[in-house]
Amino acid sequence: MTPKEPTRILSVRRLNQEGPGTQSLSEWWQSECQNKTPEAAAIAEAADRLQNSDIPVAFPTETVYGLGADATRSGSVQGIYKAKQRPSDNPLIIHIDSLDMLDRLLNPVQMSPTRACKTPQNSIPSIYEPLIARFWPGPLTILLPNPSGSLLADEVTSNLTTFGVRMPASPLARLLIHVTDRPLAAPSANASTKPSPTSAEHVYHDLQGRIDLILDGGMCGVGVESTVVDGLSDPPAVLRPGGIGIEELRTCPGWERVQVGYHDGTLDVKEIPRAPGMKYRHYSPKARVVLFEAGSDERAVARHVLHDLEDTAIGAHMVGVVRTKHWKRGLGLVSEGEMQRSLKPIPSLVDDLVSFSIPVKDHASADGGPVVKETFDCHLGADLESIARGLFSALRAMDEMEVDVIYVEGVLDTEGDLAAAVMNRLRKAAGAELRV
Ligand code: TXA
Ligand code: MG
Repeated sequence: MTPKEPTRILSVRRLNQEGPGTQSLSEWWQSECQNKTPEAAAIAEAADRLQNSDIPVAFPTETVYGLGADATRSGSVQGIYKAKQRPSDNPLIIHIDSLDMLDRLLNPVQMSPTRACKTPQNSIPSIYEPLIARFWPGPLTILLPNPSGSLLADEVTSNLTTFGVRMPASPLARLLIHVTDRPLAAPSANASTKPSPTSAEHVYHDLQGRIDLILDGGMCGVGVESTVVDGLSDPPAVLRPGGIGIEELRTCPGWERVQVGYHDGTLDVKEIPRAPGMKYRHYSPKARVVLFEAGSDERAVARHVLHDLEDTAIGAHMVGVVRTKHWKRGLGLVSEGEMQRSLKPIPSLVDDLVSFSIPVKDHASADGGPVVKETFDCHLGADLESIARGLFSALRAMDEMEVDVIYVEGVLDTEGDLAAAVMNRLRKAAGAELRV
């Protein structure tokens, strides 16, 4: 099924910001319905589509926007793969609103000809208890054995014996799941291979015409996807670094020996990745991404950029620089006065995006130039929270500017909980990681 109507964006920002307060999700929902708020109408419409149509609905979570479908119906889950053009051997994460919903998933009621009977009670393995107590609702996905007679559509798990599940911190996401009364399968709501979306506009850019509805909850607070952990293996492993760092996990009982179970170029691991999604090209803007390791010498970076701008074979007409902790605007390629003369702030979803001109030699001209090349500069901030929050937006903004190459200042993998997640996404986006 393909959408017959243009994609609509419905704002639910107020609810995502306010949250339920001291109310339960049911009480919150009831009061919104009684007050006939536009947000309640948007959620009711989204829930109706999730229950009754096979076209997925995009919604905000605290990590990135998700593309949701009823995880118990094959047709609806197939709709996700179709809209995203995602390979079907890449399993999806299930989103729940409560531990009750998870309990129902773990203990499907088996219908026999004579009576409805329950299989012996399945519970959440105890290894996960400290994690759930500490990090849920939040950006942590755990793997659980998929029970026999599972309610989940086969397409969700891609025929694995486990399923990945998380309870999102976004109140809006939990409310939508609650009203839909179904576990929602939801990968990030980008077109496959593109950077994950952290705003409704990003989703619209990638999926307009392929889905009907986008719930707009504003910018996502975390900015990178959830951490995926496998506590069923011994020792337990992180299969995807994300919003919860490995050092934080290590402080939980049973997780002291948690291992890195993914590889992104930092480790000399030759195994097939255990989270199937980690083997695909990912998070890639159109422009070539060149990632510089933390601690690279800024002058050497500047020489590299200048070389690309001057080299007609490379053909970089416009470049973007995404800065984090240490690089200065302009990388010293242009004097402060010259930069100020051409400086233009660029309206964008990222806070600090400007453009200015850099004079370079033009080897194609008889006298060697100079010509002026436009450079876009984005500073994500120096703390990891703001770097993670702005990362995908910055890559997307650079694509909108149609730059040819994006140079990114990396951070040390070990310098904070989100650092490994940020570097993992950048390594997947980058064609090369350089140390100069
Ligand atoms: O933050 C998030 O997790 C976002 C938001 C929307 O909640 N969702 C998300 O989903 O990133 P997705 O589908 O793009 O990523 C799912 C990741 C993939 O790397 C996939 O291979 C892994 O989780 N995964 C899912 N189920 C798995 C399983 N049973 N075994 C191993 N890996 C699994
Ligand atoms: Mg994704």
